[in-house]
Amino acid sequence: MSKLVHAQWSSKMTFVLAAAGSAVGLGNIWRFSYMVGDNGGAAFVLVYLACVAVVGLPVLVAEWLIGRRGQKNPINAMSELAHKRGQTKAWALVGVSGVLAAFLILSFYSVIGGWSLSYTLNSVTGAFTGQDADGVGAIFSGLLSSPGLLLMWHTAFMALVIWIVAQGVTKGLEGAVRTMMPALVVLMLMLVLVGYGMTTGHFGEALAFMFRPDWSALTGGVVLAAMGQAFFTLSLGMGIMMAYGSYLGEDVKLLGTARTVIILDTGIALLAGLAIFPIVFANGLSAGEGPGLIFVTLPLAFGNMTGGMILGLMFFLLLTFAALTSAISLLEPVVEFVEERTPLTRVVATVAGGVAVWALGIAALMSFNVWDVPILFGLNVFDLLDTFTSKFLLPLTGLGAIVFVAWVLDRKSVASELNLAGGTEQLWSVVARYIAPLGMLVVFINSLLG
Ligand code: PHE
Repeated sequence: MSKLVHAQWSSKMTFVLAAAGSAVGLGNIWRFSYMVGDNGGAAFVLVYLACVAVVGLPVLVAEWLIGRRGQKNPINAMSELAHKRGQTKAWALVGVSGVLAAFLILSFYSVIGGWSLSYTLNSVTGAFTGQDADGVGAIFSGLLSSPGLLLMWHTAFMALVIWIVAQGVTKGLEGAVRTMMPALVVLMLMLVLVGYGMTTGHFGEALAFMFRPDWSALTGGVVLAAMGQAFFTLSLGMGIMMAYGSYLGEDVKLLGTARTVIILDTGIALLAGLAIFPIVFANGLSAGEGPGLIFVTLPLAFGNMTGGMILGLMFFLLLTFAALTSAISLLEPVVEFVEERTPLTRVVATVAGGVAVWALGIAALMSFNVWDVPILFGLNVFDLLDTFTSKFLLPLTGLGAIVFVAWVLDRKSVASELNLAGGTEQLWSVVARYIAPLGMLVVFINSLLG
C-alpha cells in the first residue's frame, strides 16, 4: 500500500515547471540547431514542426494519462493497465524500452552537459573575449581532444544529477525545479542573441535557411531525423512523462498543459536557431558542423559583443541548469523502477543507476578522441547511442503509448479524462488512432527504404 499511493506534486504549477524543465534542455539549443544544420535547414524545420503538432502533442498527453492512471513506474503502469483491460502484460515492453532509452540517452547527454559546464568556466576566465572563428574552434577542439578533461566534466555533471535525484521527488526534484526554473531566463537570453544575430548582416540568410524550404533536400532520413528530434526535445518515448504523470493529481488538465509545454519548448528551439545561424553565415562556418555547432558559434557572439562576458557566463550557466533539469528527469524513471522493484533505498538506487549511466558515458566521450571508430553501421559509440535512441527507441515507445491509449483504453473514459466531447473528441480520436500512428509507421518504412 505504501508505494501505491505515492508522492504527489505539491501543486499544479510545480508539475508544469517540472514537465517544462524536462522538455527544455540541451535538445532545444544544442541538438535542435545542429540537427537543422546537418539536415539542410528549412525542410527539416517544417517537418519537425509538423511532427511536434501531429505526433508530439498526442503522445505527450498519452504518456501523462498512462502515468496518472497507473500510479506506478512506466513498466508496472503499462502491465497493470493492460491487465485490467484484459490485454497481455506484454504491453509492459513499452515501459521497458522507455526506461532503457532514458538510460542510454543520459549517458551521452551528460557528456554534453559537461561541455556546457566547461564553457561556463571558460566564460568566467574570459577565454572567448576577442576570439575569432579559429580561436573559438581551437578552444573547442582542445576540449574534445582530451579524454581526461571530458571525463572530468562528465563526472562533475553526473555527480550533480545523482545528488539531486537521490533526495527524492518532493525534496530533490521540486527543489531543483524551483531554483532552476530561472533557466527559463534562457529564453530571454536567446532573444538577446537573436538581437546580436540581427547585427551581423546575415540574419536574412539565416531566416531563409530556417524557413524557406528547399524540398529537394527532403529525404526519408531527414523526416526520420525530424521526428526523432520532436521526441527528444519533448522528452517523449522514455517513460519520463509517464513517470511524471504518475505523481499527478486528478485536477490537472492534460491537453492545455501539453500545449503550454510545447509552445515554450518549440519557441526556445526556434530562437536558438535564429541566434546561431546568423553567426554561422557571418563567419563562414559550416552549418553542418555537427554536435559542436553551438560551441563554435555562440562564443563568437559573446567574445565580440559589449557585455559579452557576463552574457556568456549567464548563458552557459543557465544552459547547464536547463540540462540538469532534463538530466534529473532522465535518471528518474530508472531510479523509480529500481526503487519499486528492489529493496534498495532511494539513495542507493540512485547511485547504482547513476554510476552505470556514467560508465557508459565514458565510452561516449571517447568517441570524440581516442575511440572515434565505427563500431556498428559506420557509427561511433556517441553517434550510435544518439541515433539508435532518438530515431528508433523513442518513436517506437511513443507509438506504443499512443496506440495503447487510443485502442486499448476505454474511449469514453479517455474522452472524459481529457474533457473532450463532440467534434473535438472525434478529432482527437482520428489523430490518436490513425494519423499519429500511421504517420509514424510511414516515416519508419520510408526511411528503411530510402
Ligand atoms: N527534452 C530535453 C531536451 O530537449 C532533455 C531530454 C532529452 C530529456 C531526452 C529527456 C530525454 O534537452
